[in-house]
Amino acid sequence: MEQLIQSRDGEKFVREPLITQHLKKRWSPRSFISEPMNLKTLQQIFEAAATSMSSYNEQPWNIILTQKGNPLYEKLFNCLSEFNQEWVSTAPCLGAVVSKKYFTQSRKENRHRFYDSGAFMAYASLQACELGYQIHQMAGFSPGKLMMDLKIPHTYEAATMFVIGKPGSPDKLPVNLQKQEKQKSSRKALSSFIFSTSWGESYNFEED
Ligand SMILES: Cc1cc2nc3c(=O)[nH]c(=O)nc-3n(C[C@H](O)[C@H](O)[C@H](O)COP(=O)(O)O)c2cc1C
Repeated sequence: MEQLIQSRDGEKFVREPLITQHLKKRWSPRSFISEPMNLKTLQQIFEAAATSMSSYNEQPWNIILTQKGNPLYEKLFNCLSEFNQEWVSTAPCLGAVVSKKYFTQSRKENRHRFYDSGAFMAYASLQACELGYQIHQMAGFSPGKLMMDLKIPHTYEAATMFVIGKPGSPDKLPVNLQKQEKQKSSRKALSSFIFSTSWGESYNFEED
């Protein structure tokens, strides 16, 4: 489905597919509005994520989810790095992604467990965005502590942690984080990582 939207310069209206619009609106805030999240909304986000593809359709992702005020929140919070603890408490919802190491059927190692869990979180992020929320994922945590404190079996592996919420004012953040919150994150040019005939040779999108 397409929608007519006003372009960035405010001058002209352009047709843009809805998914593209949400891709452009997605970002990783560090300041959130602290209001608790509606459980139905949380369910909608993860129902959408669960439609994601995965190797052998294993769906290796497992999610641990909680909101502020629940004793589990403290346990998860204590697994975060000092840097992430500085800002995470602005968000109402905190979670962790834990991936199953082995395929259920063959019992062989699933080399794509993190890859598939990442796709799951990408879908969750897009759905959250459509509903007016944002997800910020975090590698800055102690996987060992998470595994131990939450008594997660060793056939699983901690992948990331994340928060979900509605973006809030950057002014609520410690001063050292405010500047970054107001800047748009940059992206590499396609030519620097999409290659053709030989490694390092940019793919030519004008002519194959
Ligand atoms: C797997 C993963 C781990 C990340 N770890 C952290 C983190 O520990 N702390 C943090 O503040 N941001 C973290 N981020 C957020 C990235 O810095 C952010 O996605 C990137 O700068 C691009 O910005 P954008 O998401 O706003 O487009 C992480 C993102 C991902 C996907």
